[in-house]
Amino acid sequence: MKEYANVTIFDHPLIQHKVAILRDEKTSTKEFRELVEEITTLMVYEAFKDVPTKKVMVQTPLELTEQTMVADNAVSIVPILRAGLGMVNGVHTLFPLARVGHIGMYRNEETLQPCEYYCKLPEGIENSIAILLDPMLATGGSAVAAIDALKQRGCKDIRLMNIIGAPIGVETVAEAHPDVKIYVSTLDRQLNDVGYILPGLGDAGDRLFGTK
Ligand code: PRP
Ligand code: URA
Repeated sequence: MKEYANVTIFDHPLIQHKVAILRDEKTSTKEFRELVEEITTLMVYEAFKDVPTKKVMVQTPLELTEQTMVADNAVSIVPILRAGLGMVNGVHTLFPLARVGHIGMYRNEETLQPCEYYCKLPEGIENSIAILLDPMLATGGSAVAAIDALKQRGCKDIRLMNIIGAPIGVETVAEAHPDVKIYVSTLDRQLNDVGYILPGLGDAGDRLFGTK
C-alpha cells in the first residue's frame, strides 16, 4: 500500500496479540466485546499524545502546584452504528466526560454503497476533536460518508479509528479526506468478492452483538 501522511498503522505487539484473539472464530461474544474495548483504549492512548490540555491549580497536602489536565470538551465520540458502538467504552476509559454522537450507516449488501439512516451529534461538536469509530474499514465507503456527514455539520478536526483495515479502504479514505487522521491497528491483506476483509474477523456487528 502507498504511504500516506495522514495514516498511522499501529502494528504494536500488545495490540496484535489482542487482535489475534479477536479474529478467532471461537472467541465468545463477551470476550470479543471486551477485546474491542481494550484495543480501542490502547489505540486512543497512542493517538492522543497531542490532546488539548488546560492548566489547573492543585493543592497537595504540601503545597499549591500548577498541573496539566485534559481540556474541557477536548473530544467527542462518534461511533458508526452498529459496530462502532463496541468501541465507545474503550474511549470513555480515557475520556470519561466525552459526549457521544451517533451516525447510522449500513452497506447495501449488493452494491456495497453506504446508506446513512441516522445522525444525532452533540451540540458544540465542531469545537472538539471528533473521534469517529468503526472496527472495520473495508471499501472505505461508510467511513467516507460518515466523515462527509461530520464535515457538513461543521467538524474540522476528525480522527478515524479502525481496528482492522483493508488496503483499499485505507487508501480510499486517505485520498478522499487528506485532512483526517486515520488510525488503524492492523492492516489486512484484501477484500473478498463480497466486500469482507481477509483474513479479517467476519462481521464485527454480528460478533459484538451476537446477532448471528
Ligand atoms: C460494517 C462495518 C462498517 C462497514 C465497513 O458495517 O461496521 O461500518 O461495514 O464497510 P465499508 O468500509 O465497505 O463501508 P455494516 O454495514 O455491516 O453494518 P452494521 O455495523 O450495522 O452491521
Ligand atoms: N464489515 C465487517 O463487519 N466485516 C468486514 O470484513 C467488512 C465489513
